[in-house]
Amino acid sequence: MLLTKQEQSMYDGELGEAAQQSMEILAALGAIYGAEKTIPVTSAQIAGVSYKTIGDAGLEYLQDLASKGAKTLVPSFLNPAGMDREQWREMKIPEDFAKKQIAILDAYSSMGIMKTCTCAPYFIGIRPKKGEHVAWSESSAIAFANSVLGARTNREGGPSALAAAICGVTPYYGLHIDENRVAEVVIDVRCELKTMADFGALGSAVGKLAKNRYPAFRGIKRASESMLKVLGASMAATGSVPLFFIEGITPEWSIAEDAQRIEFTEADLSASRKGLDSGLKPDLVTIGCPHASLEEIKEVAELVSKRKPTCEFWVCTSAKLRKEADRLGYGKAIEAAGGFVVADTCMVVCPLEEMGHVVTGTNSGKAAAYLPNLCKQKVAFGDLEDILYR
Ligand code: F3S
Repeated sequence: MLLTKQEQSMYDGELGEAAQQSMEILAALGAIYGAEKTIPVTSAQIAGVSYKTIGDAGLEYLQDLASKGAKTLVPSFLNPAGMDREQWREMKIPEDFAKKQIAILDAYSSMGIMKTCTCAPYFIGIRPKKGEHVAWSESSAIAFANSVLGARTNREGGPSALAAAICGVTPYYGLHIDENRVAEVVIDVRCELKTMADFGALGSAVGKLAKNRYPAFRGIKRASESMLKVLGASMAATGSVPLFFIEGITPEWSIAEDAQRIEFTEADLSASRKGLDSGLKPDLVTIGCPHASLEEIKEVAELVSKRKPTCEFWVCTSAKLRKEADRLGYGKAIEAAGGFVVADTCMVVCPLEEMGHVVTGTNSGKAAAYLPNLCKQKVAFGDLEDILYR
């Protein structure tokens, strides 16, 4: 891969050990994927934040990099951590876990990375424009950035996004190149999608079919950004889909001539919904995978104000939107109904299985895919009215 003068200086160690280590990672990736050059990025979104997922080895790696003077060159921000930074005691997070989590956040912060701790940065104003190159690493955020915003990012891992943040560039291959942004499977949606759970179930089914191909949807008449976020997250969880198109909705639409065509019917939707649901009553309902938008928080607040849910429930979001929800009175309404607006973390990356929960409710296809394996949970999947009052 061709390096600029500055990149070569980084690679040769003239700009410090941290920059050298980071440039080596990018050069190795460039060699693997056949990139001819790098491309500057305008932001980096960095996964690998929860102590639950990166453990002591991850913490040591970050502290080592920080001790070598690592500093970011572009605006960079974090994925959710393993706990709410303010209310971790109320969440009953073990003390030792909290100590390690704080050390991880401190290491990132010392490199100049913003502690946004959200997988939906686009809901807090971080919205790269169409055609803008970024290095994002959370699978649902990647899908949203590419598909809904029209930005360009590959599926970065935590370390490669961090390396891009430190060097300000990423190898130019894959989804950074316009010609590669072509759908290879067309999904004709022949049913009405009304709720978040419908979009989650569609995403869950299509992710399995598409695997790592990019799907293009026809027949979706209406979709809010919250619904698009759930669709992309669910496909990224059951498949590895970093880009999708929806006719008339997403900013790009490009289909290969020999694309496979698949119909998605009412019966497919119903089968997908049933396949995700254990049918059990949840002891905890978690809303916000990916992190809830203000619109979703409002919807929950209005629903639970009318009738108190029959189980504990969380709404997971960013600290910034929690503040906004508090200001608008949604936080109070949720708490009055026995709920908890959880910031900075989520049901999957916090140590849920250590908190005594067995059946967790969700309307997200991604959470439904991850909760059984990563959190040893049985899943109650459905619309809010169903899971909150089952
Ligand atoms: Fe976000 Fe956690 Fe879901 S990181 S996408 S809320 S699994």
